[in-house]
Amino acid sequence: MSVYLDNAATSFPKPESVYQAVEYAMRQVGASPGRGGYQRSLEASRIMFRAREAVAGLFSIPDSSRIIFTHNATGALNLALHGTLLPGDHVITTSMEHNSLMRPLYSLRDAGLELTIVQAGPDGMVNPDDIHSALRPNTRMIAVSHVSNVCGAIQPIGRIAAICHEAGAMFLVDAAQSAGYLKIDVVSEGIDLLAAPGHKGLLGPPGTGLLYVAPHLRLKPILEGGTGTDSTSLEQPLTMPEGFETGTLNLPGIAGLKAGIDFILEKGIEALFQHERNLLEQAQSGLRPIPGLTIYGPEESSLRGSLLSFTITGVDSSLLAAELDQGFDIAVRAGLHCAPLAHDTLGTLPGGTLRLSPGWSTTSEEIAFFSDAVVQCARKINL
Ligand code: ALA
Repeated sequence: MSVYLDNAATSFPKPESVYQAVEYAMRQVGASPGRGGYQRSLEASRIMFRAREAVAGLFSIPDSSRIIFTHNATGALNLALHGTLLPGDHVITTSMEHNSLMRPLYSLRDAGLELTIVQAGPDGMVNPDDIHSALRPNTRMIAVSHVSNVCGAIQPIGRIAAICHEAGAMFLVDAAQSAGYLKIDVVSEGIDLLAAPGHKGLLGPPGTGLLYVAPHLRLKPILEGGTGTDSTSLEQPLTMPEGFETGTLNLPGIAGLKAGIDFILEKGIEALFQHERNLLEQAQSGLRPIPGLTIYGPEESSLRGSLLSFTITGVDSSLLAAELDQGFDIAVRAGLHCAPLAHDTLGTLPGGTLRLSPGWSTTSEEIAFFSDAVVQCARKINL
């Protein structure tokens, strides 16, 4: 048995329809959208449009032209931050953020941005009152990850959005670990900027991601070049979305992303999430007898997303992951998960945690195999 439990890094396998859509775009279409008046290019443009409409449907976005395709969530976050913020602006973020949000913020801080990092509790949960207390007259943005990639804590984004809007600031949500898992409605949840990867919960290929930009926001492009529009202009067009999708697009990836979203909508986002939650409950029960086991994140499992992070006293997480790989062909992520302040918050520096993240195709048998393997490996390492 070969078991893949690292869907929080990238989802695998993809639904069959995703592979087919990628192959169709590569073998049958083969052209770039917006770059020609011939039939192949028009079909490529139709694929792009349908994909944008699918994203809009999933996140209840009224106007799909407000969705910019990027190469991953990191690209979307960089565009959201570098495309809106100016020196002298104040941004509030949290200690649970991934480097994809934190590093661009640190680089902007070097250029004159004021940054406040609100400390989450030891369970990874952010208290919205602490965000409220951090507001300043020049606060222009509150930026938070919806679900922690380290411990799965689901942040109270509705309450944070209310604080944000009362202060007249933009609300940026990093949906890297929630898009495709949790229902997100950008309008009713007050999200101004939503950054999501295409290749995790949305089940698309790697090299896909997206940024939703609310209609009242104006972005500045961070990449300039060909857009297939305004060809006589020597300046970057600011039209949405083309002005922000410079260069040849990843059409096969975007075609696959649409198929991934269609799959989620067909199966039902709640049903898929419940499936993964059941598997995580099973894993938690299977691991519980292990002496020295600590599970991170909120104790209440309904406050955790589709991943489980744990350590075992006296057992190095990376060594354990290597044993699971070599001895059992089980793929999990171990060590530090690119979010150093989150590990500091949870008390899991320097060794990190072992993280399992099931997907739509993970079975109960695979989870039982995983739990048994961890028990055996922990015993072997501790001998
Ligand atoms: N951010 C991804 C993860 O947490 C890669 O694994």
